Amino acid sequence: MVTGAPSDQVEALFSLKGRVAVVTGASRGIGHAIAEAFARSGALTVGSARSSAPSSPFAAQVSYVSADASTHIASVIEGAVARFGRLDILVNAAGVSLAAPPDRSDDQTRLDLFDRTIALNLRAAYAASLAAGRHMKAGASIINVTSIGALQGFPGNPGYVASKGGLAQLTRALAVDLGTSGIRVNALVPGYIHTDMTAASYADPARHAQRAGRTCLGRWGTVNDLTGAAIFLASDASTYMTGQDLVIDGGWTARGL
Ligand SMILES: NC(=O)c1ccc[n+]([C@@H]2O[C@H](COP(=O)([O-])OP(=O)(O)OC[C@H]3O[C@@H](n4cnc5c(N)ncnc54)[C@H](OP(=O)(O)O)[C@@H]3O)[C@@H](O)[C@H]2O)c1
Repeated sequence: MVTGAPSDQVEALFSLKGRVAVVTGASRGIGHAIAEAFARSGALTVGSARSSAPSSPFAAQVSYVSADASTHIASVIEGAVARFGRLDILVNAAGVSLAAPPDRSDDQTRLDLFDRTIALNLRAAYAASLAAGRHMKAGASIINVTSIGALQGFPGNPGYVASKGGLAQLTRALAVDLGTSGIRVNALVPGYIHTDMTAASYADPARHAQRAGRTCLGRWGTVNDLTGAAIFLASDASTYMTGQDLVIDGGWTARGL
């Protein structure tokens, strides 16, 4: 027989009831799934992205704010605090992957794409964390959605790989700085997940099979493969965890050969 906490205590451990959460990149893909899962777990959730609010049932459960995170993320955070009076959880999921066309891009084009990628994937996450950190109290949680590109080199998109590597280090740096206030900062590290961002390689039979074959589990991930880990990092189930990578990649990074 398994011993331990009674099931109602276990449920409380993972509950987000009454917590206030901001999730960026919430219009679709990973951020959308996390925002919806948080709302279902009881969090008062504010989702944000540039496009207008996604259609219901998401709209009914999540307050949605249209804003460009590269330039306006601090006002999204302030708006959430003004509306709900506190902030307990921030998920930095907004991201872009802007690969320059191979052999047809001059240096200036490559640098422009690099700058735009860093502005959203790295700088906006820092800006959001600065704004959130002013309002968060002990027990709060910041989750940065990085990538296996933060851990390994990938071809053809140095801006993306650099931005995610930077975000992984930002996670550790902020875990140190905010840890003194009892605020935790961790990275959620997805492998290949089927979303708009990966639609082209998912649809290409050779690239689809190559990516699935490289994982231990032999398949691509879905956005729902990530929601349990996000709830874990946001909730009291992870109260002594900070500055860490939680890798959800079907075993991509576990495989050597
Ligand atoms: N899919 C994967 O395999 C994978 C793997 C590892 C990591 N990730 C990371 O997971 C995160 C989510 O990716 P995804 O796969 O869900 O991609 P996605 O489907 O393309 O969604 C990206 C999200 O970011 C938002 N966004 C883009 N530019 C923005 C901006 N300037 N301001 C505010 N929001 C913006 C998009 O909404 P709008 O266009 O409406 O603004 C959308 O909600 C990203 O950080 C990505 O790097 C994805």
